[in-house]
Amino acid sequence: MARVAVVTGGTRGIGHAISIAMKQAGYRVAATYAGNDAAAQQFSAETGIPVFKFDVGSYDAVAKGMSEIEKALGPVDVLVNNAGITKDTPFHKMTKADWDAVIGTNLNGLFNCTRQVWEGMRTRKFGRVINISSINGQKGQFGQVNYSASKAGDIGFTKALAQEGARAGITVNVICPGYIATEMVKAVPKEVLEKAILPNIPVGRLGEPDEIARCVVFLASDDAGFITGSTLTANGGQYIA
Ligand code: CAA
Repeated sequence: MARVAVVTGGTRGIGHAISIAMKQAGYRVAATYAGNDAAAQQFSAETGIPVFKFDVGSYDAVAKGMSEIEKALGPVDVLVNNAGITKDTPFHKMTKADWDAVIGTNLNGLFNCTRQVWEGMRTRKFGRVINISSINGQKGQFGQVNYSASKAGDIGFTKALAQEGARAGITVNVICPGYIATEMVKAVPKEVLEKAILPNIPVGRLGEPDEIARCVVFLASDDAGFITGSTLTANGGQYIA
């Protein structure tokens, strides 16, 4: 029986590419999303991948949503914690709401989603948890105190949980994408992108969502069974950790 993979934020951006790549690799995939019904319906119609709507920042909503996924597809073997948001603004203008929203989705989301599948993975002695952090969790980014803190938290989460999962056959790894050609990056002011970001990417271009999706497929595979607690950096050389 094909393994079951859940991709949070799996209908748009990097998650869109991950969901499709995992399906092509033979997994039964569920893609979750929080708000954009039109994009999710279109994604599902085009790919045949079922979609489930819940906010990863809400523990109760995740418990309900993950249980619906398991009812529909079976126990979760692979969890890709990809859902993420930005609320960029200099710290002196950052509101508590900006802070809470970003930490809630990008960091609390990892706790909420992973907690729901962890005991099952331990019992079955197999699991893959793949977290999508960011270059900006590694290096920090002007205007992203909330985002950088949440993404650095994702790296710490990974390193600690990997140690707990190892004996139970569960690997936990984190990918740090650089600037990838998605709506999120295209929302950065054009001038900032062209003058401050692109010139700092040694390969001279934005990354493609597929380039991150292929990293996920590898980390989910049996070939990656000895890799756990690792940080896979995919940023075109912009920051060498
Ligand atoms: N370093 C130092 N100073 C900077 C700076 C930087 N990187 N960026 C802006 N500043 C300075 C400006 O020069 C300006 O200074 P002066 O007032 O002396 O001229 C001051 O900060 C204020 O700048 P703005 O007027 O641009 O302020 P703003 O409030 O309009 O916008 C911002 C600030 C929201 C941070 C905007 O610059 C921005 O969006 N920057 C991009 C942030 C970014 O890279 N986000 C990544 C999004 S993609 C993503 O997150 C995915 C991923 O994982 C990679």
